[in-house]
Amino acid sequence: MNPSDIESLQDPANTAPVARCFALVPCAGSGSRAGTLKPKQYEHIGGQSMVMHTLAALQSVSRLQKIVVVVSPDDAHEWPDTAVQRMHCGGATRAESVFNGLSQLLTEGAKDPQGVQASDWILVHDAARCLITELEINRLIDACMDDEVGGLLALPLPDTLKAAVNGRVSQTLPRQDKWLAQTPQMFRAGALHAALLAKSAEQFEGITDEASAMEMAGFAPKLVVGSPHNFKVTYPPDFALAEDLLRSRT
Ligand code: CTP
Ligand code: MG
Repeated sequence: MNPSDIESLQDPANTAPVARCFALVPCAGSGSRAGTLKPKQYEHIGGQSMVMHTLAALQSVSRLQKIVVVVSPDDAHEWPDTAVQRMHCGGATRAESVFNGLSQLLTEGAKDPQGVQASDWILVHDAARCLITELEINRLIDACMDDEVGGLLALPLPDTLKAAVNGRVSQTLPRQDKWLAQTPQMFRAGALHAALLAKSAEQFEGITDEASAMEMAGFAPKLVVGSPHNFKVTYPPDFALAEDLLRSRT
């Protein structure tokens, strides 16, 4: 999709009357820090793959019209039957995977009014955050639905923050204004696509989440308090912690 297509999608004459919510799940990473043989999102935690836990939480949110998962082009993982659409358009970085998925959704939406329109909300959620809950997703939607920009789940930094040089503290930084960004992150599909498009020529340098793309486009995303349980499974010990927490919920 090129910029002029996006502009026409953002034309008020083309906007759908009611903004709807869609979910996009980047699931095309290799999980290099996790130390697993297969990509971490396909590791089993408590009897099913991590991404299936993530999708179950998203599927419990009735306000989500549709959930799409972005996997890598050569992903051969066998999926159980699920109402979730898979798109084999993952890229080299998380930002590129999200950008490719969103581009495909908006292109489909241009031909089908049921599909994603520029004015619709898109909730981007990491496949690797399998502890997200219906309650937290609904809290984000409630907080952002009437917002101009949109926002993200995040946690105020609980600990003292240190800067380091060569493994030694060089400075203690003020933490009062610091938050840890989580997902989902909820923005208008057209605005998020435009923000990512603006960074695509630079291979999405510095874009580690959707909010950072929106910030570089001049927006100030809203911070909505998430949960410490909504951590991203990243390192080997995280799997056991995730399994314990999931088991404690049943
Ligand atoms: N992701 C993606 N495409 C990429 C890289 C990451 O869709 N090119 C997804 C991952 O599958 C994950 C989410 O983005 O669900 C968050 O990324 P991260 O936790 O960093 O996963 P990986 O990049 O797979 O892990 P690592 O950085 O340790 O290699
Ligand atoms: Mg990564």
